[in-house]
Amino acid sequence: MKIVLINGQNHRGSTYHVGRQLAEKLGGNIKEFFLPRDFGEFCVGCGGCFMKGERACPHYEKLRPITKAMDEADVLILTSPVYVYHVTGSMKAFLDHYGYRWMVHRPEEKMFRKQAVCISTAAGAGMKSTNKDMADSLFFWGIPKIYRYGVAVQAIKWDGVNGKIRKKIEHDTDRLAKEIRENAGKVKLGIKTRAFFFIMHLLQKKGFNETDRIYWKKKGWTGRKRPWK
Ligand SMILES: Cc1cc2nc3c(=O)[nH]c(=O)nc-3n(C[C@H](O)[C@H](O)[C@H](O)COP(=O)(O)O)c2cc1C
Repeated sequence: MKIVLINGQNHRGSTYHVGRQLAEKLGGNIKEFFLPRDFGEFCVGCGGCFMKGERACPHYEKLRPITKAMDEADVLILTSPVYVYHVTGSMKAFLDHYGYRWMVHRPEEKMFRKQAVCISTAAGAGMKSTNKDMADSLFFWGIPKIYRYGVAVQAIKWDGVNGKIRKKIEHDTDRLAKEIRENAGKVKLGIKTRAFFFIMHLLQKKGFNETDRIYWKKKGWTGRKRPWK
């Protein structure tokens, strides 16, 4: 199993430890990235990725190693500590760079077979909205199976996380790893993704822009072909 672990922070704190623990329990080849260390650019809002293609992005080359690792992975794990109820700025800036991959534009077909996990930790609250920040992108990229795991660690550092909470995390990551392993290679696309893709397929017959329209036509998705078949 190929796993890519993308951390929305540079440090190895509580969030990193939860994500790493899960990745190790899954077993296999783990590639990990830290943001902003491995990618720290902000979207400049040029719209080049949408209108001309992703290679027009001034950060395309810098982002390429992570894009490649994500495309090759079976499981994507995104982690972020809760910062004022949301993902870190680094994680948000990273996700902004894949707006062109949303189903409304040019989804990557490899995404329609993967599993993904959103992991967040907070001192007390905000995991739901933080995981949603990441899950929104994963869903609109076309990923069929998305797990969300948030934990209130009651601490600012991993060293400060008490035994009871660590035990709970161990238990939860055991359970989650088991579920992901069992689902490997057999994830089914949900009705929500199918419905959304269907609406996009109708819209892309005309297309919002030429780059998207040509992409969909070339893939055969404006006809009967589908990325998951
Ligand atoms: C800038 C900043 C904002 C934070 N905002 C929240 C918050 O909204 N809710 C919360 O419960 N904890 C908040 N925290 C605490 C962290 O989310 C929490 O300690 C988390 O477990 C840290 O994970 P890490 O060890 O991976 O850095 C914040 C911490 C920082 C540094």
